[in-house]
Amino acid sequence: MKIALAADHGGFQMKEALKAHLVERGIEILDLGTDSEASVPYPVYGKACGEAVASGQADRGILVCGTGIGISIAANKVKGIRAAVVTNEFMAEMCKAHNDANIISFGGRVITIEEAIRFTDIWLDTETEMGRHAERRAMIEA
Ligand code: RB5
Repeated sequence: MKIALAADHGGFQMKEALKAHLVERGIEILDLGTDSEASVPYPVYGKACGEAVASGQADRGILVCGTGIGISIAANKVKGIRAAVVTNEFMAEMCKAHNDANIISFGGRVITIEEAIRFTDIWLDTETEMGRHAERRAMIEA
């Protein structure tokens, strides 16, 4: 599995910690930046990650900005992307089980790095449910 990672300055530290954790899990990484805490516009990074996942360059993506909101809004403009902002364990599980979120998004100024790592593991390890949830996902796609 390959995961694309992208963040603005508000998410840079958290992205780096998540990258180290994913590498430890044996997951291949596509790091789309940013590479410092210098201020950058989050839409550029949300779009880049969305395009990497939608094109199949990466299987899934992780985004981080200050809140997780702006960067996920940008990613969700790319067709085929289901990016979810996650702030607790239940959301991490449900966004994969029901929504099959192909991108998870965190707020570097909202949750801790430990929480982001825990939510990422839950998201990666949860199975996507079929049946009525697959029908609803197809409605989004249509
Ligand atoms: C940048 O200061 C901040 O606006 C950004 O990281 C994010 O929180 C936007 O949604």
